[in-house]
Amino acid sequence: MSHDDRSGAKQPHRFDPKKAALLDDPARLEYLPPAEVAALLDAPRGGLVADFGTGTGLYALELARLRPDLSFAAIDEQDRMLALLRDKLAARPAPNVRPVLSGTPEAAALAGRVDRALALNVLHELGDSALAELAGLLAPGGRALFVDWNAAVERPFGPPRDHVLSPAEARARLERLGWRVAHERLFRFHYALAAAPAR
Ligand SMILES: C[S@@+](CC[C@H](N)C(=O)[O-])C[C@H]1O[C@@H](n2cnc3c(N)ncnc32)[C@H](O)[C@@H]1O
Repeated sequence: MSHDDRSGAKQPHRFDPKKAALLDDPARLEYLPPAEVAALLDAPRGGLVADFGTGTGLYALELARLRPDLSFAAIDEQDRMLALLRDKLAARPAPNVRPVLSGTPEAAALAGRVDRALALNVLHELGDSALAELAGLLAPGGRALFVDWNAAVERPFGPPRDHVLSPAEARARLERLGWRVAHERLFRFHYALAAAPAR
């Protein structure tokens, strides 16, 4: 699916692939440590994880190395972004990471099978229909971890504060769309919300 209907998104523009290099800034791994993201994700042994809006796959690759027992579907709506991930995989293979383009039969085959979904730095870009698509990926008992820039925090990088949500706004939006938020954690520049669709 190309997500042309982004209604509900705080920042309803498609991510510009010309900015992709920003996603690979190594400083990200300091202020948002992958090991802490992996702990919050809390994926069951041998499970299937969807990195929804994977971009260049920085965190999918880091998490896949931390948890070789898991399989990662690195999903993006833009093949230009996935091409950058494929280049990384060609240079350094990660057998448990598979790039998946939204709207393909491969993406459709994930519906109802995913144990954990990660949505990192993307909630502010997701329209309501994309959030429903994300919910549809989850297996019974599955849940999602939404980690995004915190609008309440001043920072020298990342999107402008008025393009992203505060933790309270993110929680309210998810709850309005039928998610139950089970856990919240604040990082230096980000909030993290662990949530499951109320079925
Ligand atoms: C700001 S980047 C974040 C990438 C990655 N999660 C990270 O933190 O490095 C957002 C990515 O999400 C993708 N994206 C946005 N909306 C999407 C959707 N509805 N389905 C799949 N991918 C989406 C964009 O194409 C872009 O690559």
